[in-house]
Amino acid sequence: MKKQGYYYVETLGCQMNAHDSERIAGVLEEMGYKPCSEEEALEGKADIFAINTCAVRENASNKLYGHVSQLWEIKRKNNPDMIIAVGGCLAQKDKENMVKRAPDVDVVFGTYNLQGLPKLIKKAQKTRKAQVEILPRLVQFPSELSAARQSKHSAWISISMGCNNTCTYCIVPSLRGRERDRRIGDVLSEVEEVVANGAKEITFLGQNVNTYGSEFGDRGLFAKLLRKMADYEKDGLKRVRFTSPHPAAFTEDVVLAMAETPNVMPSLHMPLQSGSDKVLREMRRSYKSERFLNILKMVRQNIPDAAVTTDIIVGFPGETEEDFQETLRVVEEARFASAYTFQYSIRPGTLAGAREDQIPKEIVQERFERLLELQNKITLEQQKTFEGKTVEVMVNSNHGRKDNQQKELTLSGYTRDARLTHFVVSEGTKLIPGDLVNVEVNHAAPYHLVGTLK
Ligand code: SAH
Ligand code: SF4
Ligand code: F3S
Repeated sequence: MKKQGYYYVETLGCQMNAHDSERIAGVLEEMGYKPCSEEEALEGKADIFAINTCAVRENASNKLYGHVSQLWEIKRKNNPDMIIAVGGCLAQKDKENMVKRAPDVDVVFGTYNLQGLPKLIKKAQKTRKAQVEILPRLVQFPSELSAARQSKHSAWISISMGCNNTCTYCIVPSLRGRERDRRIGDVLSEVEEVVANGAKEITFLGQNVNTYGSEFGDRGLFAKLLRKMADYEKDGLKRVRFTSPHPAAFTEDVVLAMAETPNVMPSLHMPLQSGSDKVLREMRRSYKSERFLNILKMVRQNIPDAAVTTDIIVGFPGETEEDFQETLRVVEEARFASAYTFQYSIRPGTLAGAREDQIPKEIVQERFERLLELQNKITLEQQKTFEGKTVEVMVNSNHGRKDNQQKELTLSGYTRDARLTHFVVSEGTKLIPGDLVNVEVNHAAPYHLVGTLK
């Protein structure tokens, strides 16, 4: 009889990477493996320990290699049959070298080869030798594989893979390839499927969601897709989100589709990267700071309650204090709800990585701290405007934290504009993930709101 096996998939990257993990999990479940918790996996219960890696910054790479040696210890002590399978962007980047750097890895499968995982695992189990298979390009959308989704009420849906841009700091295009768009019929079938299975929220994923359709010569397809989501509201689809649009390709039709489609949420993640036009040019971002700010104006004119978040890189090669001041100026003016701020990290094979005018670490650190301080101040100011207001929250967990002896629970969820909110309910309140509730905010902290159920 076949031994009942367990798997665990660890995600180290972005949302696209996390969604790929759901497909990896789906593939492993089709092989007959059952999920176990991270804690159990680290005790040796997992027969397949898959790690879905990221390579966007150097520290992401370092994390992986340390982690594999820790897993090998667990394998040696508790489960000699454990297969350590490494996929994702770092696997795509390092290929065979991954086995040289981490000899304890059993399977290396990259970004394009999720469908090849069963074959590689079986071969590794049989031969006890490391199996590496990295495909050079996408042959099958991971969306065609079955998925073991982490959440029933909130589902990711990939609309495109890869990226046609050439941002000079970025390694992603070399690991994810050129943009490939899924057919709209396939995307809509998946929306129908997840909604029929109880999804109340979906998030469309792509490196550049707003160029969706360009492969078929249909530039307006993303706005059409958003508008189409109104049809599913009656079936329970309450909230639609997406990440990330690119400012250079951002058009009014997307803003209007957001404004006029009731279940598309007023939140937008749009990476600025830098406020300096010189740096933006050298990054090959194809827009100037003024255009970025004009997009924000257009968004706020049409969607007054929109919360905009962003990504910013500090310390791009050649960035002067004046360039950095420009970033501070744009951040001040843009009023982002929050920002992911990154210190520039040299990536092999990129144009910016080959430059000689890299900025010393101490200067990058010092600028990074100044930017963080400014954005934290703006974030808190905005959060404070919610005190006393009532917000609609989608419950994301019913495993509340017990607060005190008074039989109260703290649950959490997100507002329409994607702010994390904690709220207190009495024990026994029947709420399930995906339910919408009204919460009166009585306290605002930088990264969450706290309130009570109305
Ligand atoms: N496709 C997405 C972003 C993917 S990477 C987009 O363009 O919107 C996520 C973020 O990582 C980027 O927005 C950028 O801010 C950051 N990033 C990418 N390469 C980086 C590097 N070499 N150093 C530091 N941050 C980087
Ligand atoms: Fe990287 Fe630029 Fe493509 Fe985003 S748009 S994935 S930052 S190359
Ligand atoms: Fe995502 Fe990291 Fe790859 S950010 S696309 S997992 S390099």
